[in-house]
Amino acid sequence: MRKLNFGIIGCGRIAYKHAEAIKKNEKANLLCVCDVVEERAVEYKNKYGAEAHYIDYHEMLEHPGLDVVNICTPSGLHAEMGIAAAKAGKHVIVEKPMALSLKDADDLINACEENGVKLAVCFQNRFNPPVQKLRRALEDGRFGKLTHASAVIRWFRPQDYYDQAPWRGTWAMDGGCLMNQSIHNIDLLQWMMGPVESVFGHTATNLRKIEAEDVGVAVLKFKNGSLGVIEASTTIYPENLEETLNIFGEKGTVVLGGIAVNKIETWKFADSKEEHGDMEQHQQEVSNVYGFGHNALMDDFIQVVNNDKIPFINGKEGRKALEIILAVYRSVRTGNKVRFLDKSM
Ligand SMILES: NC(=O)c1ccc[n+]([C@@H]2O[C@H](COP(=O)([O-])OP(=O)(O)OC[C@H]3O[C@@H](n4cnc5c(N)ncnc54)[C@H](O)[C@@H]3O)[C@@H](O)[C@H]2O)c1
Repeated sequence: MRKLNFGIIGCGRIAYKHAEAIKKNEKANLLCVCDVVEERAVEYKNKYGAEAHYIDYHEMLEHPGLDVVNICTPSGLHAEMGIAAAKAGKHVIVEKPMALSLKDADDLINACEENGVKLAVCFQNRFNPPVQKLRRALEDGRFGKLTHASAVIRWFRPQDYYDQAPWRGTWAMDGGCLMNQSIHNIDLLQWMMGPVESVFGHTATNLRKIEAEDVGVAVLKFKNGSLGVIEASTTIYPENLEETLNIFGEKGTVVLGGIAVNKIETWKFADSKEEHGDMEQHQQEVSNVYGFGHNALMDDFIQVVNNDKIPFINGKEGRKALEIILAVYRSVRTGNKVRFLDKSM
């Protein structure tokens, strides 16, 4: 398998998960890094042993031998950077959300398809062992008829978090706790429950001084007839409390919790197939809400590029949670339930 050369754009809070995942993988090499703040790019270059640093990402795209670009910049820049990378013939790993509008998401997907490059979206929690185990249980039909589900993020982001990087919490570059934080759990909710029929939401900006919401709730109806609830907040005092996914069916109940869906809280099925010790194997201790999924995502992507396969979380998969959140925002603006077209999702 060929070793791939990576370049990171945006050397901020999340980029280290990419740099470390690249460093850990023997089939990956961090070739170059880019940040408009030069000291950040230099720090990453030195810390992770990259060959070069840039302050203009267009110049980085011309670096000889670059294969893959990891986009870790403010969300409102993802689509244009991904499209430029695709046009330069580079494969793209983009942080969530892949874009802030469906048009931008589609333009990015199309640019990657037209230029024959791979696109993966960082919903790294899909790789969490408890989440993978839950997905297998669903695929095996162990729940029987699904009745309802909920996705809850009760996290703490102080005003400082927003003030450190002025793009955070703005409509143009970010969105609120639904678009930034809860998108991971909304992605898992729809991955488990399937396409959405309709959404109704409320949001509020109750504690933080930001444009977008710091609390959001929504109710959903899925196309399979089951119901869903989303609760999201970055206002929980005094620290991150939980990211929990609850799935309920005729013959099964699963609650995944911990601070970032890394623990099995409840696992009950009528078929009782689990062996002794099976639950413990799927628990995961994490030191922060990012977990370990970036390593698995990198591994998947390298296999995909080398063997011309489809990424586990490709552009079309990455778009689904975005579509739900934009529908919640539309519901809040109009005061109405938003129905999904049959062809959407
Ligand atoms: N997958 C996850 O769990 C996870 C976690 C945190 C953040 N994220 C996502 O990662 C992205 C970045 O978030 P963050 O918290 O690391 O942000 P950040 O503000 O800490 O870092 C962003 C970096 O991008 C740089 N930048 C801005 N414009 C640029 C440009 N034109 N060219 C090059 N560099 C530029 C900034 O200088 C900054 O260093 C966001 O989209 C966010 O939603 C994902």
